[in-house]
Amino acid sequence: MKTLIAYASKTGVVEKCAKMLAEKLPGVEICNLRRGATNPADYDCVVVGGSIRAGALSPETALFLDQCRDTLLRKKLGLFLCCGADDQAEEAFSRNIAPELLAHAAVHMAFGGELNLDGAHGLERWMMKFMRKSAEKEGTLMHLFPERMDAFAAALEKEEA
Ligand SMILES: Cc1cc2nc3c(=O)[nH]c(=O)nc-3n(C[C@H](O)[C@H](O)[C@H](O)COP(=O)(O)O)c2cc1C
Repeated sequence: MKTLIAYASKTGVVEKCAKMLAEKLPGVEICNLRRGATNPADYDCVVVGGSIRAGALSPETALFLDQCRDTLLRKKLGLFLCCGADDQAEEAFSRNIAPELLAHAAVHMAFGGELNLDGAHGLERWMMKFMRKSAEKEGTLMHLFPERMDAFAAALEKEEA
């Protein structure tokens, strides 16, 4: 089975998740959507990932889902998000992803999030430093849930193509 993991990442966190997930699935090719999209028609299974910022999905991920919707509806599909507000992840899925894609997906899951200062510059870096400081103070610093990636891979492998 040929699997594509297509993702968009602003500061490298979604990319890290895409690579971690790739190690758990056979026959994977990875596509960074910020560098251009690959045709999902060439794969049996497609995993699409992005992050949530100010409530919105990474624009490149949203565009890929929109432009490839008909093809994706004929594939085994997995969807993942990186987001800091884990309790609002389901809402983020339903607000940002077309209901038919969400219903068709064999699995959709939030992998948590990180504030990666190394990947950020200028005003964004400043904002992230501020967000990190306040979260540290309140004990609410976001983090990834690597164990969910195992569950995600298992759910995809279980689902018939
Ligand atoms: C400026 C900014 C805004 C964010 N907005 C949200 C948000 O609205 N909801 C949420 O759950 N997480 C939010 N996050 C957390 C990101 O989804 C998280 O940092 C994610 O890991 C980013 O991944 P990426 O940089 O690889 O795209 C925000 C992070 C930043 C830096």
